[in-house]
Amino acid sequence: MASPNPITAQELTTLSTNAIEAKAKAYCPYSNFRVGACILTASGEFISGANVENVSYPVGTCAERVTIGTAIIAGHKKFKALAVATDIKPGASPCGMCRQFIREFTEPSFPVYMYDGEGNYKVMTMGELLPNSFGPNDLR
Ligand code: THU
Repeated sequence: MASPNPITAQELTTLSTNAIEAKAKAYCPYSNFRVGACILTASGEFISGANVENVSYPVGTCAERVTIGTAIIAGHKKFKALAVATDIKPGASPCGMCRQFIREFTEPSFPVYMYDGEGNYKVMTMGELLPNSFGPNDLR
């Protein structure tokens, strides 16, 4: 288990509450698998999102990418932590595509909190979720 960058207990409470509440906004008529997410920006804002599915299944987007895309277009570039909430136990971890998407905007020490349907979490760093990753510095 990770020993991630510390965020305050209050930040973690807000992060988890927002991610869990965001599950209610999921558009998932095909899978009925609700995913909510929330990211804490370096400036202290909490931005949420949920999965948005599509009748053409591969077109659907995961909660993590909806959330981070929303944060990026709102002007945020640096982040402290991400929470992902599902109804299963243990909580789901980000899919491979989302791990690469998250990596674009985070360092290997960045913590990802994964909440199950009862509000319990496990936390891992991006370095653990996506080791030896290809990041922006590799292209420049
Ligand atoms: N999903 C996410 O939103 N995030 C994850 O980490 C795992 C999967 C979504 C995609 C799809 O809408 C549904 O969950 C089932 O795969």
